Amino acid sequence: MPDSVTITDNRTGKSFDLPIVNGGVDANEWRTNLPGVWFLDPGFGATASTESSITDLDGANGILRYRGYPIEQLAEQSTFLEVAYLLLKGDLPTQKEFDQWVYDVTHHTYIHENMRKRFYEGFHYDAHPMGMLVSAIAALSTFYPEAKDIEDRDNRFIQINRLISKGPTLASMAYRASIGMPFVYPDNSLNYTENFLSMMWRVAEPHYDPDPVLSRALDVLLILHADHEQNCSTTAMRVVGSSHADPFTTTAAATAALYGPRHGGANEAVIHMLRRIGSYENIPGFIESVKNGEGRLMGFGHRVYKAYDPRARIVKNHADDVFKVTGRNPLIDIALKLEEIALEDDYFKSRNLYPNVDFYTGLIYQAMKFPMDMFTVLFAIGRMPGWLAHWNESVEQEARISRPRQVYVGPGERQYIPLDQR
Ligand code: CMC
Repeated sequence: MPDSVTITDNRTGKSFDLPIVNGGVDANEWRTNLPGVWFLDPGFGATASTESSITDLDGANGILRYRGYPIEQLAEQSTFLEVAYLLLKGDLPTQKEFDQWVYDVTHHTYIHENMRKRFYEGFHYDAHPMGMLVSAIAALSTFYPEAKDIEDRDNRFIQINRLISKGPTLASMAYRASIGMPFVYPDNSLNYTENFLSMMWRVAEPHYDPDPVLSRALDVLLILHADHEQNCSTTAMRVVGSSHADPFTTTAAATAALYGPRHGGANEAVIHMLRRIGSYENIPGFIESVKNGEGRLMGFGHRVYKAYDPRARIVKNHADDVFKVTGRNPLIDIALKLEEIALEDDYFKSRNLYPNVDFYTGLIYQAMKFPMDMFTVLFAIGRMPGWLAHWNESVEQEARISRPRQVYVGPGERQYIPLDQR
């Protein structure tokens, strides 16, 4: 039979065929024929946890498409809010649909005053903005108890709208709290990205006018981060969502997963690494230390991409536009040289390690004056529509509760010995 694999259980001599459909084999067929034999797949390297029609990622060829549209076209021609609509609804909006969506997002950016007065002010003066963001998103669930009704599609989209609208408000509040500055209320006359920049940077001016090059660059970075199929945080979203927790609590779990340095925290780690390297002459020594296993080249490598990450190429191309406004980030020269040397080195070539999206984003954020502990927060704002699109898709799929198996390798039965006899 073409497009299938044949499995033989050598204990019994019994064979069965597993059809290959869309590049996968159905685990139910396996389970039926081989009950009690589990796939041992830590990190899910060979396990597809779901079917999805949101993002198509071909890591071998460096291809990324949202709902079929190449990331390069979206980054060039679309806006973050249009991409969010595309991810969530499945198709690009008409003008009328888009205007309504922009209106809805713009008019739900405020958050309850208790969050501002009591919640944010309760954090320690130097609290990390990601820690504040994770807890603030979870706290929103207490203001919207109706969000628990996840079976109602209209209700789901009201909560999705709220999360996309309030993400930048919560994020900028986390930043302002971390530096002891008063919060800035949303400004409905600005677009999504401009409003975020206003809430971040506005001081005493009556109206904040962001630089159009910087707000467009940030919009493009948000587009590039908007989805990336079953990554760690999106998997957290689907797993937690499968218990039917409300979308605020579920999104807080995804945001928590993003916090780690191997996922959304890598852009911050790249800047630390470039600073440590400090100058060209230290690059070869640094590369040697990575090859000797003394740490990783941050911003390089990816579980799925075994070619150049297409997002990294777009970010790299945008860096010059930003630097024309902000002045050149001196670390870019070290990054470019590091990339050049690594891409010629057998260690990186043989393992298919290329720059990922995080290699250059931090340099742009830094040039735009974002403090390093805000980098992952920016990633979270961008990823919000992707998380929510996957959450909505999994609810519509009536996904079973996530519950993997384990291969137990601990001790067999032992008899309890009372404490005083041990
Ligand atoms: N520097 C040096 N060696 C590396 C790196 C790196 N950045 N990444 C992987 N390797 C080596 C690794 O040591 C292993 O070598 P060996 O086969 O000799 O043991 C081999 O390459 C395969 O690595 P792996 O750890 O099995 O790969 P993984 O798919 O489990 O990890 C990764 C993927 C992204 C966690 C990893 O590449 C990494 O730690 N990169 C640095 C952190 C980073 O840039 N993360 C951002 C990811 S992109 C944004 C996002 O989606 O969140």
